[in-house]
Amino acid sequence: MQNFIQYTPTEVIFGKETENQTGEAVKRWGGSRVLIVYGGGSAVRSGLLKRVMDSLEAEGIAYEEMGGVHPNPRLAFAEEGVEKAIGFQADFILAVGGGSAIDTAKAIAHGTANPAVKLWDIWTNQVPLTQSIPVGVVLTIAAAGSEMSDSAVLTNEEIGKKAGLNSRLNRVKFAVMNPELTFTVPKYQLACGVADIMMHTLERYFIPGISCEMTDEIAEGLLRTVMSNGAKAMENQKDYDVMAEIMWCSSLSHNDLTGCGRGKDFSVHKFGHALSAKYDVAHGASLSAVWGSWARYQYDAAPERFARYAHKVLGIEGENQMEVALKGIEKTEEYFRSIGMPASITELNLQPTDEEIRELSMDATMGNTVKLSRLKPLSADEVYEIYQMAK
Ligand code: NZQ
Ligand code: ZN
Repeated sequence: MQNFIQYTPTEVIFGKETENQTGEAVKRWGGSRVLIVYGGGSAVRSGLLKRVMDSLEAEGIAYEEMGGVHPNPRLAFAEEGVEKAIGFQADFILAVGGGSAIDTAKAIAHGTANPAVKLWDIWTNQVPLTQSIPVGVVLTIAAAGSEMSDSAVLTNEEIGKKAGLNSRLNRVKFAVMNPELTFTVPKYQLACGVADIMMHTLERYFIPGISCEMTDEIAEGLLRTVMSNGAKAMENQKDYDVMAEIMWCSSLSHNDLTGCGRGKDFSVHKFGHALSAKYDVAHGASLSAVWGSWARYQYDAAPERFARYAHKVLGIEGENQMEVALKGIEKTEEYFRSIGMPASITELNLQPTDEEIRELSMDATMGNTVKLSRLKPLSADEVYEIYQMAK
């Protein structure tokens, strides 16, 4: 097991009607003037936003609202949010929504605390992030895990790039998680969420040569739980316990718990971010579309890990390690399809040309300056090959 630091400072407020505790939580974490950030209107239509506002008012907390966050959130919108937060003298940013609203809220918090700095300079690590203002979350979709992660992802539309920023300052103060709020998530988004949750653990799992028994057991349990409940949710999305399991998996899959002692890879996310930046596809679908090809290209570098995954997560038996490993990849692709997720780029309804695939490969490897993956190092040429396999 490798040395690690596990730092998960977020207060989790989980269960039915917990959104009514938002005001108390903001107060407890020092907020008195709040900018509420939300998406395209689902939180308005469901009445959630009103309940959150009522709960702030009950605590005497002043607030302003800013709706309109787009999935794959935009840098320019976050910059508008910074102006609004500064104008309102906000001391706390509250996200009501999923990964897109949360990541926008994190960006607004960083921009508010660093008004002289361009947000994209922070995102591209040209300026180190040393201060921010606090952020809280009311989660409405189980997917990105941003409610407990140290990450925030923005798309710079001007240059067509999607990039994540990792920082301790991206850990939010509290996350209100009421699984009932996810009953209205569109089926496709629900499936995208399941794929993304799986991927956050898979991206920490396929790293060879490091013994981490406890972490493996947690990871395998999480994968079994999210896959079985994901399938059940496709049948009945209003089953509280099913949606509660998925929601809890979303947070635990990306708060680093499933990477303790091994770290992370996140190369499939690099493939996905390049696809989302170019074609604006939903994040979870961008990952499931390439994972199978990524795994086929890589599995002979660590057949024992792929065979263990196939056996412990998917129940596949067999003597021949390579065969078991391959069956595990096939069964995972079948699972994606069974919940309506693409298992190839064609199934994403995209037909990129060879030239476009070359551009995607350069984008995923930052112009061929970094090699992806801790299995086989992938430069732009290998990434190109995997994208071609995924076509
Ligand atoms: O905008 P509204 O109207 O709220 O609709 C949203 C949106 O259209 C809808 N939705 C959410 N909750 C709903 C609901 N509709 C009805 N009822 C509800 N309760 O779902 C759509 C997707 O929302 P979004 O926030 O984009 O989803 P998700 O949570 O999957 O977030 C995706 C973003 O997070 C980033 C992704 O790259 C993507 O930009 N990620 C962030 C991470 C992080 N910060 O740690 C890690 C992830 O790997 C990921 O990269
Ligand atoms: Zn993800």
